[in-house]
Amino acid sequence: MDTVLITGTTSGIGAAFAEKFARERNNLVLVSRSKAKLQRQQAELQSCYQVSVECISCDLAENGATELIADKARELGLSVDVLINNAGFNETGYFTDTRLSEELDMIQVHIKVLTALTKLFLPGMIERGYGRILNVGSTGAYMPCPCDTVYAATKAYVLSFSNGLYQELKGTGVTVTCLCPGATKTLFASKANIENTLLFKLFVMQPEDVASIGYKSLMKGRRSTTAGLYNKLLVFFSKLLPISVISPIVQWMFKE
Ligand SMILES: NC(=O)c1ccc[n+]([C@@H]2O[C@H](COP(=O)([O-])OP(=O)(O)OC[C@H]3O[C@@H](n4cnc5c(N)ncnc54)[C@H](OP(=O)(O)O)[C@@H]3O)[C@@H](O)[C@H]2O)c1
Repeated sequence: MDTVLITGTTSGIGAAFAEKFARERNNLVLVSRSKAKLQRQQAELQSCYQVSVECISCDLAENGATELIADKARELGLSVDVLINNAGFNETGYFTDTRLSEELDMIQVHIKVLTALTKLFLPGMIERGYGRILNVGSTGAYMPCPCDTVYAATKAYVLSFSNGLYQELKGTGVTVTCLCPGATKTLFASKANIENTLLFKLFVMQPEDVASIGYKSLMKGRRSTTAGLYNKLLVFFSKLLPISVISPIVQWMFKE
């Protein structure tokens, strides 16, 4: 039975991860902003699966979020065996029109907090000779995305960081996996106003399927995994084709 800390659990892929890990009889630490949703999720998972569930309500975009999580983990005497850096959101549109505050928050949540939480829990995992870290990237990590430039750049960081760390950790018993989903039916698209784009009409996966793919890859200690055949093909061609060809295609996919 592992202790699993997951960020962004109140909906979508994170909620599916929480359910999956609880079903597999692991103890959970859930991190999100909404306290009411966290408490409801805690009660449901505890009564369904008889596992221990702790909640940390915090805004990861705020300064001091990682310190708050570190203090809570110390207070609860937790040693985290599995870390799922999943929390995230999007701000789409032409860069000249998007909100800088949202983009800076995205850099904070996707890059700074993900890096800081890894730095926080990794030493304990190495000491115990066992640990699993999963960082949620995106298919956008593999290609520049016009009309989603900052988001894709943060996810490129997630992929590069995870790949490099995976190699460093060989032989320690700790692995890092980067899960790259494509369009997935969660609140993500409606929050970013992109649910009517071609990207979200062409091929959309269910969050439970994405979490299940991520879970299997994580437990096998894989370096990275792209969710679903369509997304795998997209990534394959993005590596083959020059940026001058792939960029207009991606931009077209953001059209309604
Ligand atoms: N859905 C897609 O099409 C898609 C595609 C590729 C990659 N992804 C990635 O998948 C991950 C999960 O997204 P999702 O699709 O499941 O979206 P979602 O349904 O909107 O869920 C996002 C979760 O993150 C939490 N969150 C957002 N901002 C936060 C903050 N500042 N502090 C703490 N928690 C925060 C939200 O909870 P609260 O609002 O309660 O804080 C929620 O639980 C993200 O990293 C996203 O980039 C999604």
